[in-house]
Amino acid sequence: MSKKERLDKILANMGYGSRKDVKRLIKDGRVKVNDNIVFNSDFKVNPYDDHILLDNDKINYRKYIYLMMNKPKGVVSSTDDPNSNTVIDMLDDKYLVYKPFPVGRLDKDTEGLLLISNDGKLAHELLSPKKRVNKKYYAEVDGYVEEDHIELFKKGITLDDGYKTLPSQLKIISSGVVSKVYLTIQEGKFHQVKRMFQSIGMKVLYLKRISMGSLVLDNDLALGQVRELTEEEISLLKNI
Ligand code: URA
Repeated sequence: MSKKERLDKILANMGYGSRKDVKRLIKDGRVKVNDNIVFNSDFKVNPYDDHILLDNDKINYRKYIYLMMNKPKGVVSSTDDPNSNTVIDMLDDKYLVYKPFPVGRLDKDTEGLLLISNDGKLAHELLSPKKRVNKKYYAEVDGYVEEDHIELFKKGITLDDGYKTLPSQLKIISSGVVSKVYLTIQEGKFHQVKRMFQSIGMKVLYLKRISMGSLVLDNDLALGQVRELTEEEISLLKNI
């Protein structure tokens, strides 16, 4: 990212106080950019390239942000949408300076784990079909899911457009008029889970993503909540 931003915005986004607080810091001559004291809050800086000091301490602008969201229904997994609220609209302002985007998509009515980041390389790796990253879903399905289906899913399911899916792992939690299952897939075709069940004559009534690669949805995150990934979660994800 090489875009220049206002100095007060950068400092406020990094948690050095409200916009008003940081304007005061700047006015008081406590902020240097490339060894010169800057008194103008609207001075434009490139937070990655310019050397910014506050009280002579270097400001380390982080380049990447990694967020886990427990996505609720009703929001779309994109950066902007003319008709709906997006997952990005739900983020705190302090994250927006990083220009994060959802890594992969969940349908508007799907809940659960969504990684939001500005790390294009990691996103590419996680989404690359070649990497075959496991994505585990919890689903409630209209109809009896039987043991026989496990084998069928393992062999691959032919979707409505003729595409045969890679082997997937179906685990039955309970079978009934509405069955509860876990399904782990390694691809991310459009509406894939729903279409896989549709191909065997069943409708997905509820869908929630539980994990993606090593990243597991934090049970403490309520629907709509977001938290930053831990260092450990980030390094495990990068080791795919
Ligand atoms: N499969 C689906 O059908 N929908 C999702 O949101 C994710 C996987």
